[in-house]
Amino acid sequence: MKPRKEIIGDCTLYLGTMEETIGGIERVDHVLTDPPYLYIKTHDFDREWDEQLFFENAKRFLPDDGFIALFGRGTSFYRWNTRLADLGFAFKEEIVWDKRFCSSPVTPISRTHETISIYTKKSGKIRKNRIPYLEQKKYDTDGIVNDIKRIKSAINNEAGLNRIIDFLKTGNIPYGESLNCHKVTIAKETVCKNPEIMTVRAIRDGIKEKSVIALFKSHVKGNVHPTEKPVRLAERILALISDPGDTIYDPFMGSGSFGVACINTGRKYIGSEMKPEYFETACKRIEESWNKQKNQPELFPGTAERAAAVGE
Ligand SMILES: C[S@@+](CC[C@H](N)C(=O)[O-])C[C@H]1O[C@@H](n2cnc3c(N)ncnc32)[C@H](O)[C@@H]1O
Repeated sequence: MKPRKEIIGDCTLYLGTMEETIGGIERVDHVLTDPPYLYIKTHDFDREWDEQLFFENAKRFLPDDGFIALFGRGTSFYRWNTRLADLGFAFKEEIVWDKRFCSSPVTPISRTHETISIYTKKSGKIRKNRIPYLEQKKYDTDGIVNDIKRIKSAINNEAGLNRIIDFLKTGNIPYGESLNCHKVTIAKETVCKNPEIMTVRAIRDGIKEKSVIALFKSHVKGNVHPTEKPVRLAERILALISDPGDTIYDPFMGSGSFGVACINTGRKYIGSEMKPEYFETACKRIEESWNKQKNQPELFPGTAERAAAVGE
């Protein structure tokens, strides 16, 4: 039987297995996916899938600068990493999702993280992304207190205050030994290590993305999918590997969190899911997100153009 296909905005969703649908994928820009980890014995969806077929096809349909970002854990995850390397993919980064809660309360060690590895087929470059200050420091009260102290001591003297005002008005980063400032040029970008200016800059422009992303789950227990991933986490990974307008492939879609993240960030999405109940949930969530954007074009620049491009 042919897999069922639903088109919602610029997302294409298949009810069917990865094995049934992957042959029809002609070209996508990147893969972001969260496959069955093959260790949760109590979940009927955590079943073997054709690893060789998946990775060989990824090599076929990705461009040289395409990325594959993969969630996983334990033996199967290390095997997938090795398969990617054996096929010639280049390792770029490893991201740890610090979940801020424990998902395996009965294990000797409370498990509070998930791992994501990022490979490129050949030449992909990880994008720079700055995260709003309060989002990046949400769980770092000590860091916020230190930043407040730094700014307090700077504005307590006229020269420090003037330096901050000048930076905010002109973008000039002051430099000089007497300012406790070290100018460093890394990959053509000049960084000034003056703590007070760096702090003001972080508050204004955000903080560079980190390899550990601390984020509490956005969903309520039992809500949508037992291994649902936060939409915001996916948005942050997408920002590292792709650009608006790119097409993202997710053959293990579950409840469609990555599809929602694609809509929120202006990417196109192709997903597949083998279980009808999760497929329906994914369709519902993706449709709600798409309609929300279409009905509020002032809040989501570019949505009208995207809708017109798919004939809506
Ligand atoms: C880890 S979950 C993905 C959860 C998803 N990231 C979310 O946020 O909801 C993996 C999903 O892949 C589905 N699945 C398992 N084997 C599959 C296969 N061979 N083809 C397509 N889907 C499959 C399972 O039913 C499950 O919903």
